[in-house]
Amino acid sequence: MQTKYYKLDPVKPDLSILAEAAELLRQGELVAFPTETVYGLGANGLDGQAVTGIFRAKGRPADNPLILHIADVEKLPEIAAVVPASAEALTERFWPGPLSVIVERRSHIPDIVTGGLTTVAVRLPASLIARELIRLAGVPIAAPSANTSGRPSPTTAEDVLADLGGKIAAVIDAGPCAIGVESSVVDCTGVVPALLRPGGVTYEMLLEVLGEIEVDPALAGSLAIPKSPGMKYTHYAPMAPMFLIEGELPAATGELIKREILAAQAGGQRVGAVVSVELAGSLPPATITAVYGSRADTKTIAAGLYTALRSFDDNPVDIIYAEGIEEQGLGLAVMNRLRKAAGYRIIRN
Ligand code: TXA
Ligand code: MG
Repeated sequence: MQTKYYKLDPVKPDLSILAEAAELLRQGELVAFPTETVYGLGANGLDGQAVTGIFRAKGRPADNPLILHIADVEKLPEIAAVVPASAEALTERFWPGPLSVIVERRSHIPDIVTGGLTTVAVRLPASLIARELIRLAGVPIAAPSANTSGRPSPTTAEDVLADLGGKIAAVIDAGPCAIGVESSVVDCTGVVPALLRPGGVTYEMLLEVLGEIEVDPALAGSLAIPKSPGMKYTHYAPMAPMFLIEGELPAATGELIKREILAAQAGGQRVGAVVSVELAGSLPPATITAVYGSRADTKTIAAGLYTALRSFDDNPVDIIYAEGIEEQGLGLAVMNRLRKAAGYRIIRN
């Protein structure tokens, strides 16, 4: 299949092109589109057959449910059997934006969307292009990140094409995603809401609105049974095995990472590093360095993380060391992704 490529201005998109892409979605085709978090792979969320195509294109396990994307908050009750007060409060404060809420689903939502669960994830993205596309399609759009399952999520249209080119009907290119990590996923079905995946809306912001929020122990990599099916799979992984260096002190992390790199290089390995701009300059000269952003502004690290992880695709290395950061603000989402990308191979300082 030839994947159609549409280039759009993120601020003033050509609506006739969006209408063409929306028509493809209505016909049951797969269309990748930008959101403020990462690029999504969209299908008509009410068409089980179309949604099956998402799992096929990504190689995604069928029990990992998808997020339904809507363009208007009024559509939430058409998907949710109940809208709990917590979901009401969260969506009022953070929609449109990088937040997905888990609610009890209505029965017309196809099983393939929810992996057979009685609940469903719903998100109203901030991206203008995403919202216009959904509005023009006139249906909720099921959309996981538009990567091959297990790979880092795509933050550019080139990333999407590298993974899914030839396997999907079209991709809409509107430049790089602003946030760079996925939406926060909050389960609103329990007495106390639970954070299942940290993302673009920080834990601190969620707590401020909810007063109380559980954090699934699986987020810290313990052996607890994951509540979010997506938690149990290897994710975001670059092409070479990665080790994450973490601990309380950035300076100690920096020293440890340099030692590990030198030892691996002494053993004849070609070594990659995923680090802050602050650390990059002091690494051994032979290191293949991918800078993810600046420790002075965690937003830049979230925005640059997946590009840094993907940079080794075209520049193969034998082993990668990644610099951990503080788990505050977006740091919680960044560390969650880094730990998974490292397959929980963690070296502590
Ligand atoms: O930012 C995002 O959320 C992006 C963009 C495209 O919107 N989408 C995204 O989708 O990250 P995906 O499929 O890569 O991640 C969805 C996550 C998975 O961890 C999945 O297990 C969880 O949401 N999820 C979906 N439905 C669920 C449900 N009913 N109960 C628990 N977890 C659910
Ligand atoms: Mg994903």
